[in-house]
Amino acid sequence: MKRVAILISGSGSNMVALAESMKGDHPGRPVLVLSNVPGAGGLAKAEALGIPTAVVDHRGFDGRVAFEAALSEALEAVRPDVICLAGFMRILTAGFTGRWAGKLLNIHPSLLPKYPGLDTHARAIAAGDAEAGASVHEVTEELDGGPILGQARVPVLPGDTPETLAARVLVEEHKLYPAVLRRFVTGDRTRVDLG
Ligand code: GRF
Repeated sequence: MKRVAILISGSGSNMVALAESMKGDHPGRPVLVLSNVPGAGGLAKAEALGIPTAVVDHRGFDGRVAFEAALSEALEAVRPDVICLAGFMRILTAGFTGRWAGKLLNIHPSLLPKYPGLDTHARAIAAGDAEAGASVHEVTEELDGGPILGQARVPVLPGDTPETLAARVLVEEHKLYPAVLRRFVTGDRTRVDLG
């Protein structure tokens, strides 16, 4: 059974989708939900799902390296085979991505390599793109730059706001991330493409 840790900063809707997918004959099980934000909405959802939780508050540390040392210590305690970043809003140094190389996944709300970074939906709308979506990728030292393992596409509709587009993409994220994880835990790196 593969041990899956999930890192969050907010509502944790992707964490819920991942956790709920790991049932029955799925070779993975959630072993920890960790947030850098105390009181993040996803923590209560994880507790309701019976998943152990932890908080490592980045504000309590003097710099990224000290924070990441505490993060790695909390992760080492659960011996994860896979670490899923799911709405985790901290940039990770090469030291951390190197320490956990090969085990780190992230979901980013754009069709990478377009729009790494923030405000992805506003940027797609401003560019007049006909479609948008989400990408699941392996995490490397390059922000939102690792090998892409799956993408989900949605249309950008007339009158879309960043909020309406985000909501449409989020529905697909909740299908995409579990589908990629299901393959990833078995060592299967073939791409998932939805929509
Ligand atoms: C999602 O758009 C995800 O792509 C991004 O963070 C947003 C919130 O995710 N990484 P969640 O609801 O906290 O899972």
